[in-house]
Amino acid sequence: MALKDIFKGHEGINKILISNGGENAIDKTFFYLSGVEAGLFEGSSIVATRDSLKMFVFPLEEEIAKQSGHEIVSATSLAQMKDNISRELASEKEVGVNLSSLTVNMFDKIKEENGKLKFRDVSESIQNARMQKSADEISRLKEAANISGEIYESVLNELKEGMKETEVAALLVWKMMSNGASGPAFGSIVGFGENSAIPHYSPGNRKLKKGDFVLTDYGAQYKRYCADTTRTVVFGKATEEQKEIYNTVHEAQSRAMEMIRAGVNGKAVNQKALDIIDATKYKGKMMHGLGHGIGLEVHDHNALSTKDMVLRENMVITDEPGIYIPGFGGVRIEDDVLVKKDGHERITHKPSDFLIEV
Ligand code: GLY
Ligand code: MN
Ligand code: MN
Repeated sequence: MALKDIFKGHEGINKILISNGGENAIDKTFFYLSGVEAGLFEGSSIVATRDSLKMFVFPLEEEIAKQSGHEIVSATSLAQMKDNISRELASEKEVGVNLSSLTVNMFDKIKEENGKLKFRDVSESIQNARMQKSADEISRLKEAANISGEIYESVLNELKEGMKETEVAALLVWKMMSNGASGPAFGSIVGFGENSAIPHYSPGNRKLKKGDFVLTDYGAQYKRYCADTTRTVVFGKATEEQKEIYNTVHEAQSRAMEMIRAGVNGKAVNQKALDIIDATKYKGKMMHGLGHGIGLEVHDHNALSTKDMVLRENMVITDEPGIYIPGFGGVRIEDDVLVKKDGHERITHKPSDFLIEV
């Protein structure tokens, strides 16, 4: 990460303010810039220049902030926090802010507390910088992917008839954290049977039966970076139909992945997967985009969809085709992929080439 990257296209600005609100208004750019691995940092801010940054924090996270090696300004009250930040910005005419993350309420307050200052939205340059991962970010993403892959087989070994989806979800989290994850990257999706046809399903009380698809979409968080991987197996003996669905999704995933490299439009990769699925009797049964960027957020940025996005070196994206048949079930295979200059590297473990019967 180079601080100057977030200033690209904003030559007239010397400082960028990144502000966190409460739990639902944490700007992940705070962690992108500071690199801090622990802590909530509610109500904290960063003021960045092109070559340094200051962290404005409360005592709750002061120790963690200090370990980052950045300059720390601590406040013991909200009033003091506002004062510290206003003083830091007072020398400027115009300051950059990340409007894609600030709430309207937060932005109104920032303007009110800094009456003379003008603010400029620099969210696009921040987003652009965050899309291309640094060596440190890539190593965190690889570890998150590896932790997720390593535990999968042991979860399959524990599948038993009558088990609930929520129990499998709990096992995934327990095993990932036992294997070094700081937590799950998102609420795991575990769908048995007909529930596997709902792409963004939440696990419930459905009990596992012989012949069910078992779809698990899960991922570890490691030093704040996310993995996002989906595997689908059958509990018991698979039918020919189930195998056909799996093979079609597998083909779509592999053929799309072959295309991934810097300079390629993600839209074309998405279209390749759709063309393969739409050439079969499962036409129209993939109702989502093929993949998205991952990083500090699971859905970090647009990547493989119907929108243009020229892939760039060191983006990390998912390749996740699926076929979903309501009332019957669905298959999704999802891997995380590092975009390289002349190709790509799958950073999640390789999925099975055939439908696994557990
Ligand atoms: N885990 C949600 C997704 O794959 O996008
Ligand atoms: Mn995904
Ligand atoms: Mn997923």
